Amino acid sequence: MSDQPLLSVNDVSKFYGSRVGCRDVSFDLYPGEVLAVVGESGSGKTTLLNCISTRLEPTNGSVTYRMRDETTRDLYQMSEAERRFLMRTDWGFVHQNPADGLRMAVSAGANVGERLMAVGDRHYGNIRETAIDWLGRVEINEDRVDDQPRAFSGGMRQRLQIARNLVTGPRLIFMDEPTGGLDVSVQARLLDLIRGLVSDLGLAAIVVTHDLAVARLLSHRMIVMKDGHVIESGLTDRVLDDPHQPYTQLLVSSILQV
Ligand SMILES: Nc1ncnc2c1ncn2[C@@H]1O[C@H](COP(=O)(O)OP(=O)(O)O)[C@@H](O)[C@H]1O
Ligand SMILES: [Mg+2]
Repeated sequence: MSDQPLLSVNDVSKFYGSRVGCRDVSFDLYPGEVLAVVGESGSGKTTLLNCISTRLEPTNGSVTYRMRDETTRDLYQMSEAERRFLMRTDWGFVHQNPADGLRMAVSAGANVGERLMAVGDRHYGNIRETAIDWLGRVEINEDRVDDQPRAFSGGMRQRLQIARNLVTGPRLIFMDEPTGGLDVSVQARLLDLIRGLVSDLGLAAIVVTHDLAVARLLSHRMIVMKDGHVIESGLTDRVLDDPHQPYTQLLVSSILQV
């Protein structure tokens, strides 16, 4: 891992009127590092993820990102066009609901190919070949390339969403409850796949989950949120095996229904 953070979150707060979304959140993320954000429903996980990924402007605080050219940029000082370019190329965003991350009425191949076209690839043959290659990497058979995702199962849709995001070779991927809503056996297979890809590609990732088993399997480090605040953070194994805060102890012992 590099000694320079890829992403730095500095005292980020988001208020919805008088309601707290998240408050005074700070952390660094290093290249190739997977960070889990855990906490009960309503603790501010999605708000934080959206603030970091430029989908929602924070009320206070800043987020900086180290670009491919090694310059460090404040995400909210960039132009909208620069931010969009970053999201299309260097970043991926895997939504809990595949319909938010896929175009349901175009083919699987086009869903993957579209991201390549957005970065300037214009050669139809190459695009199709790369799309098919990526379908294979997420365990979708080549003969489904012309099918629309609405004909896919939930697990396949999620795998397609992952292929669409990874095809441009991003360095950072955001995931909001990537296995939420799937059957347990489908979840396990998807988690395995995500873990393999993230490690093979050396991706940095921020994974929001209410499921501590997901955090355990995927992340190196985790932060625990409650009422918009980070109440505990540390290496995943340390936090889960030896939680310091009473609230984290409750979460880990499953006394709290999350
Ligand atoms: N668009 C919104 N308008 C007003 N309040 C919101 C909005 N989105 C989230 N909140 C509130 O912010 C808090 C954090 O929500 P959220 O980030 O969705 O938490 P989580 O993802 O952990 O379930 C909750 O109290 C929620 O009701
Ligand atoms: Mg959420």
